[in-house]
Amino acid sequence: MNILVLNGSPRPKGHTKTMVNAFEKGATDAGHTVKVIDVCRKNIKGCLACEYCHTKGNFNCVQKDDMQEVYDALREANLLVLASPIYYHNLSGQLKCVIDRFYATGMKALLPKLKQVAMFLASGDEDIYDGALYSLKGDFEDFLGLENIGVFTVHGEEEVSEEKKQELYEFGRNLKEVTFMNDFIFHNPDKVYFGKNQFTHLAEEVSKYGKKVLMVYGGGSIKKNGLYDQVTKLLTEKGLEIFELAGVEPNPRHTTVDRGAEICKQEGIDVVLAVGGGSTIDCSKGIAAAAKTEDGKVWPLVEGNVWVTDALPIIAILTNAATGSEMDAWAVISNMDVNVKIGIGGDALIPKAAFENPELTYSLPAYQTACGAFDIFNHVLDNYYLAGDATFDMVLEMQEAVMRAVVKWTPVALAEPENYEARANLMWASSMALNTILDAGTVHAPACHAMEHELSAYYDITHGHGLAIVTPRWLKYILDESTAPAIYRLGTHVFGVEAGLDPMDGAKKAIEAVEHFAFDVLGLKKTLTELNINEEHFVDMAKHASMGAFIPGIKNLNQEDIVAIYKMCL
Ligand SMILES: Cc1cc2nc3c(=O)[nH]c(=O)nc-3n(C[C@H](O)[C@H](O)[C@H](O)COP(=O)(O)O)c2cc1C
Repeated sequence: MNILVLNGSPRPKGHTKTMVNAFEKGATDAGHTVKVIDVCRKNIKGCLACEYCHTKGNFNCVQKDDMQEVYDALREANLLVLASPIYYHNLSGQLKCVIDRFYATGMKALLPKLKQVAMFLASGDEDIYDGALYSLKGDFEDFLGLENIGVFTVHGEEEVSEEKKQELYEFGRNLKEVTFMNDFIFHNPDKVYFGKNQFTHLAEEVSKYGKKVLMVYGGGSIKKNGLYDQVTKLLTEKGLEIFELAGVEPNPRHTTVDRGAEICKQEGIDVVLAVGGGSTIDCSKGIAAAAKTEDGKVWPLVEGNVWVTDALPIIAILTNAATGSEMDAWAVISNMDVNVKIGIGGDALIPKAAFENPELTYSLPAYQTACGAFDIFNHVLDNYYLAGDATFDMVLEMQEAVMRAVVKWTPVALAEPENYEARANLMWASSMALNTILDAGTVHAPACHAMEHELSAYYDITHGHGLAIVTPRWLKYILDESTAPAIYRLGTHVFGVEAGLDPMDGAKKAIEAVEHFAFDVLGLKKTLTELNINEEHFVDMAKHASMGAFIPGIKNLNQEDIVAIYKMCL
């Protein structure tokens, strides 16, 4: 694991440093990577409390001093060791300055890899540690949610004893790899009606929520294939009153959402029925949320990063396997005025019910099938790589099973559009990918999705296609000795790459397999250039994608990294 030691003692041969050295040797002997930062040798100022970091700084500190080195190391660390002499009943001032500067980025969500903390303290008197331990408990265990794996102390002016040094050595030597299995709550109340003959339940399900239904759909394909007539007949027979919002665009616009919310408010709509793919369902979710606000507008909710707890009930009839919106708590809305495509989430956005009939995807154009498939694949892959092998093993295997299903069944669906088994596998994979079963115990870190949303926001391209272009480049960019085993595992467990290779060679074969799937099997164009995209907006896009800071993941990506990945896609 990666260990960061912040040594707050100015004395290079003092007791604190002696403890650090013994620990470092033990941990290094055990194969861990240890970075010791002697903070007293650094130019690190105290926090200015200017709030730049929490406003336009997007979690970056305005002061460009040696603290940047600490921030970088902190994002990679799994274990943080705070080592300090006791000065006036507390940690040394130099270390305290560093801790105060955690304010910029020291939040649980921004440090997904950091799991544990330990403390080494040296003092003149015995049992003088209350101040330091108060910070350990309040700031690191409670606020950052870290597991305290040990406190080691020495006191008095005599040299640190051999026993104590041995104790510190053993502590380092016996460290266990951190687990990435976080606590989690699983609650997905969506009732899924899956299969060919489930519409018998539709009217009954919709009528549970009231009489007035807003039916939301896209460009009219549901009128051509008879689905519109079928649904309206079933609802009308049950005595339900139907209102309509047609013409939802791919990458649904906030203005379309607002039009739907206006209908809801004017007509007193009870339930929103989405009939379509991810865009239609996302639009319906936006409508359901905006309809409950005073001004009926969705963008303030999106911009305000509001977790939606109140919305009209949503029911989805799925016609494309792709976004997972039919079973998740998220909607992605686009505002083309400002080139922003961004998610809005909330428990209230999980549909009450989803009707998933694989036959409804038979008539999808091959391009939509291919793009949808890559979207599903990448929803899983984005999560899969957060922690590599150290994650929740059962969940990792389930993620691989879903990706394998996509790789296996998409070519079948492309060759035989009416193959029920293929369509059913893809449809259920879509729902599984984002209904949070595959997130259990992990942190969702959607690297490729964050980068692709910018492409769709600026160029209105099909999301799954953008992902297919970005994903192999991202894998190439993050490939190094530390990531090679995890990438190689994707090859062996999902694409059938042979086992027993050197991890770097295996990882390269895995990336080739992803490219083969995206560009040969799915037949998608390989470059952004072919989609008429050049580098004009890359810097701004990278700024948005990183929220001005970085995208966390198996390799954290800062803005330069993101621009470099976009350039690889040209
Ligand atoms: C400025 C200063 C304040 C100190 N305050 C305390 C104190 O409050 N309680 C205590 O027990 N020792 C105190 N000490 C003693 C140190 O904690 C002790 O010498 C410790 O071993 C120093 O760690 P080091 O060897 O890593 O530098 C203080 C020392 C200094 C220089």
